[in-house]
This record gives sequence, C-alpha cells and structure tokens, in this order.
Amino acid sequence: MSPDSIARRRPDPLPWGWEVPLGAGFAWLSLAAATLLVAQGAAGFLTGRGWLWPDSPRLFPALGALLTGRVGVGVEAAAGVPSPALVYALAGVLELLLLAASIWAVARFWTTVGTGRRHGMATRAEAKAILGAGRLRRVRGLIRPDLYGRGGTRFGGFTAIEARTARRRSSRASATGATHTPAGSHDGGAAAGGREKFTPASVGWRLGVGKVPRTGPLWVPFDRTAGVYGPQGSGKTLDLLTPALLEAPGAALVTLTKVDDLLLTIDHRSTGGRPVAVLDPFGLAPGVPELVWDPVAGCVDSMVAERRAKAFTAGTVKGAVAAGAGDSAARFYAAEGAKVLQAYFHAAALTGRSIEHVLEWVANPREATLPEEILRSHPNAAPFWHGLLHGALHGDDRTAGNTATTVQQALALFFQEPLRARCTPGPGRPATDLADLIRRGGTIYLLGRDDPYASASPLMTAIAEHVLDTALAAAAASPHGRLCPSFLACLDELPSTAPLPTLRTRMANERAVGLSFIYAAQTWRQLVICYGEDEARALFGLTNLIAVFGGGKDGIFNRELSELIGTSRISRTTYSRGRGSAGTSFSGVDEPILRPEEIRLLPERHALVIAENAKPLIAKLTRCIDGKAGRALLGAQAAAKARVGAARGRQAPMFARTTAAVETAHRMDLTPIGPAGSPGGPVSYGAEVSVPGGRGGDGSW
Ligand SMILES: Nc1ncnc2c1ncn2[C@@H]1O[C@H](COP(=O)(O)OP(=O)(O)OP(=O)(O)O)[C@@H](O)[C@H]1O
Ligand SMILES: [Mg+2]
Repeated sequence: MSPDSIARRRPDPLPWGWEVPLGAGFAWLSLAAATLLVAQGAAGFLTGRGWLWPDSPRLFPALGALLTGRVGVGVEAAAGVPSPALVYALAGVLELLLLAASIWAVARFWTTVGTGRRHGMATRAEAKAILGAGRLRRVRGLIRPDLYGRGGTRFGGFTAIEARTARRRSSRASATGATHTPAGSHDGGAAAGGREKFTPASVGWRLGVGKVPRTGPLWVPFDRTAGVYGPQGSGKTLDLLTPALLEAPGAALVTLTKVDDLLLTIDHRSTGGRPVAVLDPFGLAPGVPELVWDPVAGCVDSMVAERRAKAFTAGTVKGAVAAGAGDSAARFYAAEGAKVLQAYFHAAALTGRSIEHVLEWVANPREATLPEEILRSHPNAAPFWHGLLHGALHGDDRTAGNTATTVQQALALFFQEPLRARCTPGPGRPATDLADLIRRGGTIYLLGRDDPYASASPLMTAIAEHVLDTALAAAAASPHGRLCPSFLACLDELPSTAPLPTLRTRMANERAVGLSFIYAAQTWRQLVICYGEDEARALFGLTNLIAVFGGGKDGIFNRELSELIGTSRISRTTYSRGRGSAGTSFSGVDEPILRPEEIRLLPERHALVIAENAKPLIAKLTRCIDGKAGRALLGAQAAAKARVGAARGRQAPMFARTTAAVETAHRMDLTPIGPAGSPGGPVSYGAEVSVPGGRGGDGSW
C-alpha cells in the first residue's frame, strides 16, 4: 500500500454511473481536438503568417481537415500555410502538455478538495512550522549560541558577547597549548569571531521529507526528544538513528546490539580526529578502541555511589520480569539490591579497593562483614549506610536471599573474568577519560547483546548514566550554559541495552542544556516491561516526537496511537436512487484520522510522525546505506569488518584455551581419574586426563 493511499480516504460511495466519466472523457477529447487548431494558429504565428484561426462557421470543417492530415483549410492565409510537419509537431507538444496538466489537475483536485482528501493530517504549513528548516532558523540562537547567538541576547546566563570573549580566550589558550580544543568543535572552536552561515544540521537532525503532506526536508531540533517504534527490520536504525548520528556535529552516546551497526558508523564518527570508545563486554568487535571504565571510581561521593548502584540494579528488572518475576517484585528487589551495592561501592572507594573486592563481597553478601565495618568506622562514610546495608541483607530470610541474588545479577557480567578484564582498568589500561572524549566531540558506543543468559543491561545502564552525568557537567561548565554543539544520546534498542531509570527526567530537563535524546524500541510492551506501565506511559507522553514504522502487530498500541491522533469531522453525503426519484442528504461524522490497521500498513521507509502539538504526518525516510553516500558507508563498514575479523583471528581459539586450561589442571592434580558418574563414590581427582565419550585418548574427534 502506498503512503498516498494510506493518506487518502473515499468518504462516500459516489452515485456515478457511466454518464459522468463519459461526459468528462468527451470534454477532454474536445479540448484535445481544439489543441490541433491552436497548433495550426501557433505555427502560422511562429512562421510570420499571423495567427491562423478559422471563422466560426468554418471551425468544424477546419478541425476535420486537420484530423485527416490537411493543413490550412478554412483559414485566410495570404502568405500560404505553414508546413504540416511544423503544425503536427507543435500539436504533439501541446497534446502532451495538455495530458500532463490534466493528470496533475485531477490528482490535485482528488487530494485537496475531492473525495480522496485525507482529513485531519497536517497541512504543509503546519508540518513546516514544526519540522521545517525555518523553525531551526528561528531557534538557532538558542541551540547554537556559539554560532548564531546575537549580541546582547542572554543564553544560559551568558550574553553572546561574553560567550565570544570566552571563546577567544579559549582559542588563544589552545594556540598556546594550554587547553585541549580540537579542530571543528566544540565550545569555542570554529565559530569564534562572529555569526556563522546557517546550516540546519548544526541545529537539528534530518528526519526525511514530508510525504503526506508533501514538503521538503523535515528537521527535528536538537532540543526536542524523539522516540522511534518499529518491529525488527523496519528501519529504525538505518532510516532514523544512524542518519541522525552520522550528521550529529557534537559528541554522542550510542547504545546498540549489532556489531554491523557499530561498524557502519565508527569510521565516519572517527573523522576529523574525533575519538571513539566502544564498550564491548562480550568481545564482539575486537580491535576497536576500547572503553575502559572503573565502576568504583568516584563512589567516595555517596551520591555517585547511590546513582551508580541504582543504575546497575535497574538493569536487572527486565531480566527478572522475563524470567517470570512480577513487575513490582522485580522493582522492589532492584531497590533493595541498590542499597547493598551502593554501600559496597562506597566502602570500596573509601578504602582504595577495586571492583575485584566488591565482587568478593557480592559473591557472598551475607557473610561479608567488612563493608559494614568500613561504613560504620570510616569518618568519611555516608552516615547510617552501614544500617541500610545490614537491614537489606539480614531481614526476612527470603527477602534477604532475593536481594543478594539481585545484587549478584547486577554484577553478573563482572564475574566473567575476560569480560571484566575488557571493561575495567588494569595494568597499562587506564580508565577512558570520558569528560575529555565528550569535549572533543567523540562517540561512546555501548555494544550489548540481547541475551537472556548474560545481559549487559546493568553494566550498560550504569555506564550510560555516568556518560550522561559527565555530559551534564560539561554543559554546566560551558560558557553558553549548554553543550555546543549538542550532545546526542542515540539509544537504540533501549529496552535491551540501557533502560535508563532517569531517562524521563533527563529528557525533561537536559534537552534544554544541549543533551538531545533519540530512543528506539521494537514494541511498546518492551518499554512497559522495563519501566512499568505508568513510567513507560510518562516517557511516551513526554517524548516530543514519536515516529512509528509500519508492520507493528501490537493492536492495542496501534489503537492507542489512532486514538491519540484523534478524529476528524467529515461530511457524509448520502445518495438515494429509487424508481422515478433520486435524493441527496448530508450529515457530519467523526472519523479516525488514521485507523489502527492503517498504521500497521505503513509502507517501508516511511514513518508516521506525531510531533509536538502538530497534526500527524507521514515522512519518507532516507536509508543511510542508499545512494553514493550509502555505498561509501558500506565500503567503510566492510573495511572495518575486515579489521575486526583480523583482530579476531589473533585471539586464542577455543581449543587452544581448552588445552591450556586442562594442562594447568593436570599440573595441579585437578583432572578426574575415571569417567564422570562412574561407581566409586565421590569424584576423585588424579593425574590422568579423560575425555568423556572415551574417544579422546588419541586426540581424534
Ligand atoms: N547492508 C545492508 N544492505 C541492504 N539492506 C540492509 C543492510 N542492512 C540492513 N538492511 C535492511 O534494512 C532494513 C532496516 O534495517 P534496520 O537495521 O534499520 O532495522 P531495525 O528497525 O533497526 O531493526 P532491529 O529492530 O532488528 O534493529 C532491514 O529490512 C534490513 O534487512
Ligand atoms: Mg536496529
């Protein structure tokens, strides 16, 4: 189904029989025939013989002659008649023009005033007012005071003049090497010295073009938040999030679950000396620059410890619900677990311990007495936290047991030594300086995996919170009072990657200081599982722009969207024809602007857009792998894949790791003597290696 047919509706069955089309066809043919006479007249005029037009009585004979190939019949042509070739060539051109104009007029009539009009969709002017480049131009001084601020206008507590002075100071300092300001960015780079030529991409991200109504490019200002909903393969990543990321002029946080999506953009985001760092706990993309993060760093501050612990445990909710726990129970234990984890992080930071020590406590929380001891006796410890810790772990047995399990789930990933080694600092592997990376317009990728056995959500949520807090601190320190250019948080697969508990409040507050949010989810229910019905609804309601792809099978969501879009009052005409009589009556009815099934039928590369207070519209999107630029992007992706493949080849293969492990066990006398389950009581360990199945002795398979 084409978007045009989605956008049109035939409100009434028409009483047309064969008479009306026949009449219209006859009228059109008469016009087409008259065009022959016009062609003859024009040919005379063009060849200097004057306008050759027959008198009224001779009009039909002249037309008949032209139709049979005779030129000049019935006209006064003292200087002779023009050549038939010229007359019929002109006639051909005019007929084609007439045909094109007729098709255009019928289509226009059909979609604007005719029965094909879709009532209730945004008009072109409404779409442009909310998503046009003109709007970006109007808000450019607010979003990019560094580029477009007017002297004397206050932005975030600074006038543009003050800001410019600060920038000059900063660029002088960078010239002397005192500060680190990279080329092409950020607070105080290219724009120093005056207002810049306006480019929409510096103020917003491109959404595509308007299909219904037909408009030019649509833009979403960076100070507006966006949510994208669409089933697998509908184009959320390639049609919306990736194009926005590629064009984003500032730093970005990207969550994703597919290596291909990472490799598609990583080279582009690295251009111009911009840094990238990839958190890749599962080692899916070896060889890319790694993000190294210390979960304990900064937890001397009890606020940091609390926020971090809550982020970690929030990531367990989805897994717990998926595993059959009730939604509210999962949230309760997440909160209890956070009390334990915040105490552990705080105690570890206060005593210079590392994540390894925290894991030691987490492995057996009810036996670990040291953290409580530290919190009770350390003078800098947050008061009463030892009590919180004790209460969470030593109340009712069942509750305390579930709390301990939740804490273990929150840090489960770190119990895998290779995963921990990849993400946390170690000898020669300092933690990534996130503040510097953001200042330099870098990109932080958090690459997760939608895996029920090993969810990266707790870790990714905690790091995402930390990154956003770091960006917020950078915004507060900026002379403009906001991040310039804006920081883009591109939260793809939000429910599977980093279901930030703070997302709603961040979207409400931080978009105003230069943090821009786009999140994507496959279904509405996924968000409900992560956030609970009320929070998910609040998140949805707070999002400025909702883009929905077709193909979604969640009937309730489609119905709610249809209700949200609302109804439009249209007039109904009822025709009646009886024996010897005919009648027409009119009435008004409220019809849904888009019915739920029409939302599901939206075609590929199109999205229904509900933006702010505008009526809905349908946007045609640009897939980032299309065209010349897309081919270049795919080429870069292929090259990046080759690099990752080569790096993977350098990793020790599984059989080598198995052999090494068994050899170590052998040296330590840990290998079993007989086959597993053999009679003889408990498993005994000895010097012989035995391979189950009895075929391993000679090393063949
Ligand atoms: N390299 C490629 N070449 C051609 N088509 C591709 C390529 N990569 C993806 N596609 C197609 O583009 C479409 C959109 O993919 P995209 O990854 O944007 O979907 P999505 O909505 O993000 O899905 P998911 O929820 O699974 O991430 C899919 O139908 C996919 O088959
Ligand atoms: Mg995707």
